[in-house]
Amino acid sequence: MTETILTETRGRVGIVTLHRPDALNALNTTLMRELIEALEAFDADEGIGAIVLTGSERAFAAGADIKEMAAISHAEVIARDLFSTWDRLGRIRIPILAAVSGFALGGGCELAMMCDTVFASESAKFGQPEISLGVIPGLGGSQRLTRAVGKATAMDLVLTGRTIDAAEAARLGIVARVLPADSLLEETISVATGIAGRSRPAVIAAKESVNRAFESSLAEGLLFERRAFYGLFATDDRAEGMAAFIEKRPPEFRHR
Ligand code: HXC
Repeated sequence: MTETILTETRGRVGIVTLHRPDALNALNTTLMRELIEALEAFDADEGIGAIVLTGSERAFAAGADIKEMAAISHAEVIARDLFSTWDRLGRIRIPILAAVSGFALGGGCELAMMCDTVFASESAKFGQPEISLGVIPGLGGSQRLTRAVGKATAMDLVLTGRTIDAAEAARLGIVARVLPADSLLEETISVATGIAGRSRPAVIAAKESVNRAFESSLAEGLLFERRAFYGLFATDDRAEGMAAFIEKRPPEFRHR
């Protein structure tokens, strides 16, 4: 039984809904633990091929829980390594699609950016307002945001704390698709269902290869991609995918 999230499955898609309605889904310690555990459980489940992470219509997440953080000392932050649990999110192997409505601020914006792609409703609002609290982004906002939008825009957002709408977030590359609020979740689940129906080794290799672009030189990244590509020739799903194309029929992947 979880306190701060809801989980369900739809076919081969795992859905996690952040659920602290009284606090605009602020990310407290319990939510962080419950969310990571749910993501890891879906990742370990061979019946699940992709995950959708969402919140409510009003808020994806309004950031780290300020009321919880306000009570923690410097020594405790270090001793507990407050945000280290989030590192586990980076080790999830299947794709995570964020479906964002309403506020995605501070840690909420960073959580969306930790996902593999972000779909947003027209009402979504993104921002890194930590500067107004006397702190800075603490969950990769100064790093992932800068890689996504470049230095000038990252500085603008992190130093002013200003909020941007979904259209601007899409223009900047933080958001992949802007969708009407009432179809956001269904569309995201539908895209996730498509991904979950593909060959799992190929899906994992695709995610690893794109992520490698952030961790390596171009030459190293290209080599990684080529090795991963060649490696997929060892899978029977590769033979099936190509045979199905030639025979003009849908592929029947074995390793989903
Ligand atoms: C704790 C929060 C919260 C938060 C909102 N609430 N955001 N509680 N932590 N981050 C609570 C409010 O206190 C309030 O509770 C209830 O949710 C509804 O919020 P309101 O402020 O009444 O709503 P509204 O007037 O619509 O304003 C919405 C808002 C505002 C603009 C999103 O709530 C806001 O500015 N929130 C803080 C955003 C922020 O600074 N985020 C960054 C956090 S630092 P009550 O009990 O009063 O009804 C951070 C560091 C990242 O994220 C580190 C890595 C994880």
